[in-house]
Amino acid sequence: MQKTYAEIYRAWKDDHHAHWREAARAIDWFTEPTEIFNSTQGVYGRWFPDARGNTCHNCVDRHVAAGRGDVAALIYDSPVTGRKARFSYAELLERVNAMAAVLVDQGVEQGDRVILYMPMIPEAIFAMLACARIGAIHSVVFGGFAASELAARIDDSAAKLVVTASCGIEPNRVVAYKPLLDAAIDLARHKPDYCLVLQRPELAATLQDDRDIDLGAALDAARGRTVACAPLAATDPLYILYTSGTTGQPKGVIRDNGGHMVALAWTMRALYGVKPGEVYWAASDIGWVVGHSYIVYAPLLNGSTTVLYEGKPIGTPDAGAFWRVVEEYKVSVLFTAPTAFRAIRKEDPEGALVKHYDLSSLRALFLAGERADPDTLRWAEAVLGVPVIDHWWQTETGWAIVGNPLGLDALPVKHGSPTVPMPGYDLHVLDDAGHEVPAGTLGNIAIKLPLPPGCLPSFWNADERFRVACLSEFPGYYKTADAGYIDDDGYVFIMSRTDDIINVAGHRLSTGAMEEVCAGHPDVAECAVIGVADGIKGQAPAGFLVLKSNVSRESSLVEAEVVGLVREKIGPVAAFKMAICVKRLPKTRSGKILRGTMQKIADREDWKMPATIDDPAILEEIAEILAARRIG
Ligand code: COA
Ligand code: AMP
Repeated sequence: MQKTYAEIYRAWKDDHHAHWREAARAIDWFTEPTEIFNSTQGVYGRWFPDARGNTCHNCVDRHVAAGRGDVAALIYDSPVTGRKARFSYAELLERVNAMAAVLVDQGVEQGDRVILYMPMIPEAIFAMLACARIGAIHSVVFGGFAASELAARIDDSAAKLVVTASCGIEPNRVVAYKPLLDAAIDLARHKPDYCLVLQRPELAATLQDDRDIDLGAALDAARGRTVACAPLAATDPLYILYTSGTTGQPKGVIRDNGGHMVALAWTMRALYGVKPGEVYWAASDIGWVVGHSYIVYAPLLNGSTTVLYEGKPIGTPDAGAFWRVVEEYKVSVLFTAPTAFRAIRKEDPEGALVKHYDLSSLRALFLAGERADPDTLRWAEAVLGVPVIDHWWQTETGWAIVGNPLGLDALPVKHGSPTVPMPGYDLHVLDDAGHEVPAGTLGNIAIKLPLPPGCLPSFWNADERFRVACLSEFPGYYKTADAGYIDDDGYVFIMSRTDDIINVAGHRLSTGAMEEVCAGHPDVAECAVIGVADGIKGQAPAGFLVLKSNVSRESSLVEAEVVGLVREKIGPVAAFKMAICVKRLPKTRSGKILRGTMQKIADREDWKMPATIDDPAILEEIAEILAARRIG
């Protein structure tokens, strides 16, 4: 008989190794693991240290070898170009082999880093899997980032090669990737050897003779070639994914091969309840962790069919786009961010478009990436008539820390809570001094070490930064930097970040990084960036600028320039549209900027004048400016 969540969680607590030894049986290893965890290796220990295997083999080859080559592996649906395509596992194998051959021809070897700056097209997935096949370490950079962000990633990873396309397509414009890449390479100290450029029909890129290679032609020439899957150590890195930290310098989260395969394969069955051959759709972007784990790796490890959707929830062409895809491909489980549902609801408040489609294949909607506000959750439940499951995780963990295991015995939903810790995660809520707080009390959510398989072993080339940022504040624990509480029933509630990270349309951004850019404007003396509540995006950044005393220009000119600067330096994804000049910033007597109080004022929450404030009049001024500009 199938075990319940409570039984599995208890069994894991009693014997971590037995749980993961059992889960590891789902993987086809070249060398089976005999040791499950070694606490003396790495920063806090390493999973499956003596096993060898290959992620691409498990995602592709093994399904073909098992006679499932005709099953659909990948469905590409692109309302922004009007193109659709379907690749069986056998076709996927052929495409990945060709891509791997192209990489090898350019001298890419095991351990080399390859930057993928790609829109949501099948070649992006072929390239990720091809890197996995030969043991190269991919680092996907989201298309909405600016050239300097791309340059920072090229430098930090010292990438040997970049794979890109001529353009991405946003509903309102064609985004030329190549000029951004050229600018990034000019800015970067490290220069990649080659750039493979896929020419898309919507916009041709100009290729540089000595550096750029036409990827389409190279793939055509490599059709039919095969490249063996490298027998990698389970602890070898599969990818680096850069994510916002508390400074302008992004953190390179490392994912290993073995633990990642074991954890993701487990989640497909236990958490999402999806079987091989069923269609699973994560409506995210491969530039984010959700895209890595649930557009690419997990569904393919599971032998399911994944959907790659190059479009938006609204406007491509309307708020029925998601329902069209669910009907057309018989999607069983849909995973997206709450912001997508807020956008759909705004366009179609009654959910009228849902009724135009047959959604009978859909068993559940999973939400993550930001807090799922109960109002949106209830709306989604009402219009879809299936369980709507919030789950909480981070780029660092790669899979859900807290969720509701639909594949086991789904627990009753409490709106506002992503439900319970997954096996592998021993959660504690600590006060700032590191003491456990009673049930129901807000505190820092920390995970007792070791982190489970699939979570980051460290940051790329930065063990010490990892220790300082994540492990030092609460010794023996990983600090999630999320605050929340656990109720008497063991349900976890995630309330806010404890650092400067904000969540804009499910995208994780650092206000500190935006402050660095604002402060770089020659007329700005000091600044503060906060996240203010936004009805669609959850949060939107707002920058408060104090101009230097000798500046005589119109403040609105500087505001517009600063908005442009953040777009140029961080990218459109920052959605930084509000820059506001103020005479002074509110500070404590010791000089700390009162960002929390400013945020409460902007969000029209109750706020109290802080006892430590230097000059109370400043906050009153800011409240007046925000009211006049109708912010909040
Ligand atoms: N390449 C280039 N630019 C991009 C981009 C990409 N891949 N993705 C987004 N951008 C740009 C957008 O065009 C927009 O630019 P603009 O200021 O010129 O309009 C800007 O970045 C902000 O994009 P976005 O945050 O997506 O806002 P939006 O208003 O275009 O769309 C939603 C809002 C809610 C529809 C959209 O954010 C969405 O679909 N979210 C789904 C959630 C999701 O994918 N989350 C990921 C984690 S699960
Ligand atoms: P990212 O690394 O981009 O996945 O962002 C991770 C952060 O997003 C988390 O640390 C949380 O702050 C937030 N987050 C993600 N999922 C949820 C959720 N289900 N509920 C609340 N916050 C979430």
